[in-house]
Amino acid sequence: MPPRAEDLTLQFSDQAISELEALKTHYPTLKSCILPALWIAQREYGGFLSEEAISEVAFRLKRSPAEVQGVATFYTMYNTEHKPGKHKIEVCTCLSCHFNGAFRVRDYISEKLGIKNLETTEDGMFMLEEVECLNACNRAPVVQVGDQYYGPLDEKSIDALLEKLRNTDESTVTQMADQIVQVQLMAPERIGTIQ
Ligand code: FES
Repeated sequence: MPPRAEDLTLQFSDQAISELEALKTHYPTLKSCILPALWIAQREYGGFLSEEAISEVAFRLKRSPAEVQGVATFYTMYNTEHKPGKHKIEVCTCLSCHFNGAFRVRDYISEKLGIKNLETTEDGMFMLEEVECLNACNRAPVVQVGDQYYGPLDEKSIDALLEKLRNTDESTVTQMADQIVQVQLMAPERIGTIQ
């Protein structure tokens, strides 16, 4: 059963509500709008889909929280368990990256930031996560931060990347969520023309 309005503890911004209303017109059913609605929520709530955020999406799409939670937890791009911090560093440890030093990269970042896999720095700046193949094997060892890939990496380029991220005002986590929302808001026929 969908949550009732009076049970919600979070409230989408006016912009998010109007984006969701526009997105609903792109899909045949409210159920098929769950993925884009989750991107809106992830952007709205600092990159993290808490139970409260899931409830709000469920309310707005007339679904049960369990159904929305089931979708959100199926995909690793939604942050449902760990707060991602301002910048989530996703280190590929799959085969090609593994052979090219992925664990050295992971360990170096881990040591520099003082965090292990799935941990966030105390200042909320970085989270580290080991992930499966990022489909950029020609750049192994590679990491993804927001919508950008960095690789092949060595200690020097990792230092430069961390420095650059420290000096980046906007959260790359919410920035990517917003970019995905904006693409989804385009008329379907325009998406095919993006180069
Ligand atoms: S194995 Fe790392 S990107 Fe494919």
